[in-house]
Amino acid sequence: MDIHPYTGQYDVSGFTCGDEPHHADLNDFLKTDALRYSATSMSQTYVAVADGRVVGYVTLLTDAIWLNPDEKGELQRADVPPAQTVPALKVGRLARHKSCTIPLVGSALMRFAFDILIDISERAGCRLLSVDAIPSALSFYEKLGFVRNLHFNHAGKKRETTSMRFDAFSLARPAWTLHVPLMRPASPTDLPIDQVDRGKRFGAA
Ligand SMILES: CC(C)(COP(=O)(O)OP(=O)(O)OC[C@H]1O[C@@H](n2cnc3c(N)ncnc32)[C@H](O)[C@@H]1OP(=O)(O)O)[C@@H](O)C(=O)NCCC(=O)NCCS
Repeated sequence: MDIHPYTGQYDVSGFTCGDEPHHADLNDFLKTDALRYSATSMSQTYVAVADGRVVGYVTLLTDAIWLNPDEKGELQRADVPPAQTVPALKVGRLARHKSCTIPLVGSALMRFAFDILIDISERAGCRLLSVDAIPSALSFYEKLGFVRNLHFNHAGKKRETTSMRFDAFSLARPAWTLHVPLMRPASPTDLPIDQVDRGKRFGAA
């Protein structure tokens, strides 16, 4: 399985990730919106391809996440002022083809997103992976180590999705970022995070 930018090179007319109302949006986006969004730089879509067939996709865009003061403490930056958001790379959409039997397509696409986050974070501020999880996918993201954003999910806000984040600079790099298949050549970012020069990566905080 490979992951490529989606440029319309594959027939995605039969792509379906399921029959829930949320799934319809994910199915339609790939077929009707993904290319237009990419062309206007509103998001970028990448497809996972096996035997010439699209078996999954992920759409990425930039994001900014409000965190409560104690959540900011977890970033080792409790001093970030209350009005300041934390830069993120958002998993805008993620789906695997329902009839695909290859294991770990979703995890591989998330690993791909994680690698892009690390690339970006070395060139511009970008600290978190974020996602608005649909109810049926909440535990998928929790398994990967995502946590709920308290600010976006407080009781007064009515949302169908749950805003979640994953901190790229967690002390211990979780297994899913190491053990799912590599989609690009190994790089220093494939080291566990505690083996990377954290001082260099963080800069003078
Ligand atoms: C969510 C989705 C992308 C996950 O992709 P996937 O290829 O099935 O996931 P993986 O094979 O990488 O699974 C990794 C782990 O998560 C689990 N998992 C997968 N989907 C799950 C779900 N919806 N809920 C809970 N756990 C899930 C797997 O069982 C596996 O667990 P394990 O490590 O204990 O074996 C896929 O199920 C999908 O397309 N669902 C419909 C669309 C959707 O919900 N998209 C997310 C929108 S926010």
